[in-house]
Amino acid sequence: MFSIFKKRSPSGPEDFSGLGCDMHSHLIPGIDDGSKDMETSISLIRGLMDLGYKKIITTPHVNADIYPNTPEIIRGGLNAVRQELERLRLDVEIHAAAEYLMDDRFYENLTSGQPLLTLKDNMILVELSFVVPNLNLKELIFEMQVKGYQPVLAHPERYLYFGANKTWYDELRAAGCLFQLNLLSLRGHYGPDSHQLANWLIKKKYVDLLGTDMHHLKHLELLGSSPKIFRTVNELLDTGMIQNATL
Ligand SMILES: [Fe+2]
Repeated sequence: MFSIFKKRSPSGPEDFSGLGCDMHSHLIPGIDDGSKDMETSISLIRGLMDLGYKKIITTPHVNADIYPNTPEIIRGGLNAVRQELERLRLDVEIHAAAEYLMDDRFYENLTSGQPLLTLKDNMILVELSFVVPNLNLKELIFEMQVKGYQPVLAHPERYLYFGANKTWYDELRAAGCLFQLNLLSLRGHYGPDSHQLANWLIKKKYVDLLGTDMHHLKHLELLGSSPKIFRTVNELLDTGMIQNATL
């Protein structure tokens, strides 16, 4: 079904093989708002493989109110997915970390020394509310660094309240925070304002990592059918600032 995406163009491959690793997705069945069952998880993983990915670090939501996932729950789900992949003889490297909402629970886990799931080494994927700015954001970033973690902010282009005051981005960069852009933002999937912020972040060279943030089959279809996304990814890879392949 997705073999049509393997066509080559003069500017680079029409797939994500240059990224190698996808580091943001919701592929563990039934533990967040991503894949609802194992069959869907396998379809999404097959789709990522067809799009050229060799490695997947999936990142279930962790937050106090809706998805209070623990490392045990996430590891259990990962093992089940791995077993199914093995049964089907699908050859892809898959790991699990988390997408932590920076809420009170995150702060408690951080300060009490609870082990947190990392993308690699000390890198932690964190997200913010889409609606309300976190007034303690800089303190939280600092606290993470004190504990030895490297914060990676998920989809900075989706926090539209930052758009009105972009110095937030400058300050977070200056504080050492890495930024992960969602690939679907490059085709305006989350709306025009988010699209505009994504372009602004690229122009400022504020993008370190690219993620699918894959939740369901519609995302897969949108990712695989956008020459614009492939083109922009190839351009970003040419700049040398994208770190996916190092994960
Ligand atoms: Fe996500």
